[in-house]
Amino acid sequence: MAFSREFCRDENSENTGSIKKLILHRRKIVLMKNAKKVLITGVAGFIGSNLAEKLLRVQSVRFKVIGIDNLAYGVKEQIPSGVEFHQLDIRSKDIYPLFEKVDTVFHLAAKNCISDCQADPVETSDINVTGTINVFEAAKKAEVRKVVYAESSALYEGICVFPTPETEVKPESFYAVSKWASMYFAKAYEAFYNLRLTALRYFNVYGPRQDYRRTIPPVMSAFIIKLLNKERPIIYGTGNKRRDFIHVDDVNDFHILAMNDDRTDGKVYNLGCGKNYSVREIYDIIRGFLKTEIEPEYRNDLPGEAEITLADITEAKKLGWSPKIDIYTGIRDMIEWIQINVVEKNLV
Ligand SMILES: NC(=O)c1ccc[n+]([C@@H]2O[C@H](COP(=O)([O-])OP(=O)(O)OC[C@H]3O[C@@H](n4cnc5c(N)ncnc54)[C@H](O)[C@@H]3O)[C@@H](O)[C@H]2O)c1
Repeated sequence: MAFSREFCRDENSENTGSIKKLILHRRKIVLMKNAKKVLITGVAGFIGSNLAEKLLRVQSVRFKVIGIDNLAYGVKEQIPSGVEFHQLDIRSKDIYPLFEKVDTVFHLAAKNCISDCQADPVETSDINVTGTINVFEAAKKAEVRKVVYAESSALYEGICVFPTPETEVKPESFYAVSKWASMYFAKAYEAFYNLRLTALRYFNVYGPRQDYRRTIPPVMSAFIIKLLNKERPIIYGTGNKRRDFIHVDDVNDFHILAMNDDRTDGKVYNLGCGKNYSVREIYDIIRGFLKTEIEPEYRNDLPGEAEITLADITEAKKLGWSPKIDIYTGIRDMIEWIQINVVEKNLV
């Protein structure tokens, strides 16, 4: 540093600019060396890309974000700049070296479109069970401090207790069963290898970058895109199914909390709003914002989907977290995002 100060004294020196650049560059290297390393699987997907962006924006701590995705469903363009990206499959041993010196792993990669999972139980198990175990194994080998991983409200498919607490589990679809199987592997990794794990059961997450490309896209993005294009959206079933919707930014607030709060070790948390809306109500909210009278097309119900989801979020609230984004604000912002980033770019 003495070297730098001496040179900076002469503001008019022609070397000043390049010396300043050198100092800034060195500072950046020092900061990056001290940065907390986190690894996100599924970083090119909806929740993973939003989480990466949020971590890179945190002011109080500098994060180095390593991202893994095989781009089976995710899109490279939506990985925020600043992420060290590796196009790899979570089932491969090639991921192991990336876990060295990682503080926290967020394991989000999965095959998660319910109808795709129903059509291919073997691949569902391969990715969601074997892939998840491989991530736990990589974390164990590298002595990662903490793993936060994605389960799902699909674990409550057969339950009739509403709001549903974390203790009630009855998976039915292949997707839900794959999450259930990995839950037991997580318990075994905790018991035998002391791996510190936190499981998150997201309800219906929505927000910017929600995956609209999948075979049956999630209702929010599906309705918004069709209505913006003046087409008739499809409702599977009667439209009376009720869902607990949670904004991705609220979910990612909890990710950051779980990373830092030891009380979450070995625990599982529901992440929803504790309030639900019917699919038709969501349709009408979106229609209201877009000032259109277009009616949906009703088709046969899809197998493997629960009639009602409603989260009991008492456990998550005990930690001081609560959802902040109301459904109207969330939907309004999502319409704007899809208009600019999807429809105007002719991506659909
Ligand atoms: N979005 C929701 O409403 C919701 C609800 C409940 C649970 N979840 C869970 O949250 C997690 C993230 O969900 P999302 O909505 O961001 O999904 P997403 O499909 O947008 O992202 C998942 C990412 O994982 C990647 N991936 C899939 N298989 C892979 C493999 N073998 N190797 C490496 N990468 C692979 C995909 O390419 C994709 O980018 C998933 O585990 C999902 O099951 C999501």
